Amino acid sequence: MAYENIIVETRGPVGLIKLNRPQALNALNSALLGELNAALAAFDADGRIGAMVITGSEKAFAAGADIKEMQSLEFVDAYTKDFLGDWEKVTRIRKPIIAAVAGYALGGGCELAMMCDFIIAAKTAKFGQPEITLGVMPGMGGTQRLARFVGKAKAMDLCLTGRMMDAEEAERCGLVARVVPGQDLLEEAIQAAEKIASFSQPVVMMTKETVNRAYETTLAEGLRFERRLFHSMFALEDQKEGMAAFTGKRTPYFKNR
Ligand code: CAA
Repeated sequence: MAYENIIVETRGPVGLIKLNRPQALNALNSALLGELNAALAAFDADGRIGAMVITGSEKAFAAGADIKEMQSLEFVDAYTKDFLGDWEKVTRIRKPIIAAVAGYALGGGCELAMMCDFIIAAKTAKFGQPEITLGVMPGMGGTQRLARFVGKAKAMDLCLTGRMMDAEEAERCGLVARVVPGQDLLEEAIQAAEKIASFSQPVVMMTKETVNRAYETTLAEGLRFERRLFHSMFALEDQKEGMAAFTGKRTPYFKNR
């Protein structure tokens, strides 16, 4: 597939997707969404890829859903065609996705970053849910994921005032996993993805699935789910290899990666 709104590359076992609408600060329109979903699905199905990175430009990860595309939307179409519903596909990708965020991650941009498994931010990153300033509210998970990830106080503050928070505040409140200097952002994200790709792929996928379960179920059910999948790992050669390598004081070589 030829892409016009994203740039897709591979770096060894890492699938790299760069959002590429510089003229609109990577505003997320439906064409970009279609391409992003296609690229993610292709990497997910590709046995050579172990993890993915989504990034933007130095100025913007993404400045939100495309306001110009949305401006004339009417309720009937939004509702019947389930406008924005296809963004959920990003969260159904089974291999890990890291968001490497520099510059603006606003509205849908912040929401896309939160759909990824974790966020590595450049010091220049700015996160926010400014939809209220446009006469709407977040529609791609901002009210729900932000509240779960950073708690009610910050989620209310950001969604109700529309203010931005910088990378340091985002790290402090748990939205961001790591903050790095801008020039190191992509390398740091790719290295983290390479690390993930070096581990047993089924174990990586089950770990992602199980952490995500924590946001969807009770503690008791989540713990039971974790334990059952943990048990199932003893059916993998990679478990035998990992533990034999530890006791043999050598580096493991995971077959399923
Ligand atoms: N949609 C469409 N176009 C956008 C855009 C967006 N979300 N954000 C920026 N652009 C466009 C601008 O219109 C401008 O295009 P023109 O040159 O053709 O006018 C270009 O990108 C550059 O933007 P600015 O000139 O505004 O750049 P700036 O540096 O002065 O400001 C900014 C940067 C503060 C991020 C500002 O662009 C801005 O406020 N953008 C909108 C942010 C926003 O409100 N996002 C939420 C969108 S709604 C949403 O996401 C709903 C949801 O939950 C799904």
